[in-house]
Amino acid sequence: MISEDTLQKTIKYSSLVVLVLQSTCATITVFYGETIKFVASIIMCCVFHKSLAKGLSDIYTECVHYRKELVKVLIPAAIYTIQNILVYVALDNLPSATFMVTYQFKIFTTALFAVIVLKRRLSLIQWIALFVLFCGIAIVQVDGKLSEARKKADNSSLNSTEINKTEEGNSIVGFVSVLIACVLSGFAGIYFEKILKKSTVSLWVRNVQMAGPSIVFSLLCAFGKDYSEIFKDGYNPVSVSSNMMKGFDWKVWVMVVINAFGGIVVAIVIKFADNILKAFATSFSIIINCVIAYFWFGFDPSYLFLLGGILVIAAVFGYSLFPNKTAKKSVDTEEG
Ligand code: C5P
Repeated sequence: MISEDTLQKTIKYSSLVVLVLQSTCATITVFYGETIKFVASIIMCCVFHKSLAKGLSDIYTECVHYRKELVKVLIPAAIYTIQNILVYVALDNLPSATFMVTYQFKIFTTALFAVIVLKRRLSLIQWIALFVLFCGIAIVQVDGKLSEARKKADNSSLNSTEINKTEEGNSIVGFVSVLIACVLSGFAGIYFEKILKKSTVSLWVRNVQMAGPSIVFSLLCAFGKDYSEIFKDGYNPVSVSSNMMKGFDWKVWVMVVINAFGGIVVAIVIKFADNILKAFATSFSIIINCVIAYFWFGFDPSYLFLLGGILVIAAVFGYSLFPNKTAKKSVDTEEG
């Protein structure tokens, strides 16, 4: 796809975009993302029913007549809203590579909640695979950081104060944010999987039910955090909405739409695969990106990188090929 240099530049500039977002409108960004998911899920529900009326009536029935089902999604909706905000805070305070490696910790929290909440039993090999995966990703990321540091050292035009500033951030805030985000990600994902698989409510209605409260939660967070900025020209809806769009150029909108689309894909994956496989797929995609970069753009991986890559691939296969046999049997009997 891109050379290592371009890859580093992309990470650098996207993290700058995120930094801008965080300082001006992180919570508002989450609000717009949820609104896009809400509308997209209503459209998909109608497409699924092949009728606007049937789609809307399905959503209405599920949300109004079966309010208990709606209440069930309030927990993951609130948790995902906080998690999404924390991810922005973490990206603002940590170098992107550090964020990526630390965020892999969610594989452990997800597995842990799968075992506790879904009573899923993992085989010993799967536990080992989780550990190996984490090591593999860590090695790949450490390698990335080392080559970045080497480049910086080579680059005499960059003065030392500039290096220190980029490295520092408020790393404790960033680290705590990413750790909490991992715990929330693991719990919300497993909770969502549970309510999705154990009820007859369709995926699209569930997404509408999730995005609706998330819009309210994120709006409340935005008002709480940026109240003076949003209402600085009074309570007129036109000035409020224009203040809420400040700093939103087309690049920010593209990012909001991509994130919203990513959220919908996550819901589909949770429905048709499971949360732990989702986490593996995300980690695996980092490696695939690098392989494409190697064949098409002359990316030259180091031995450390190759070691990390092999560990990740081995972990993905180990996890998928060696499920807990007794757990699988009991799931088959339950589903049959
Ligand atoms: O990092 P992680 O994979 O936990 O992120 C999950 C993302 O998917 C969150 O941004 C969450 O808002 C989104 N999601 C969604 N709809 C769902 C489930 C998750 O938009 N039904």
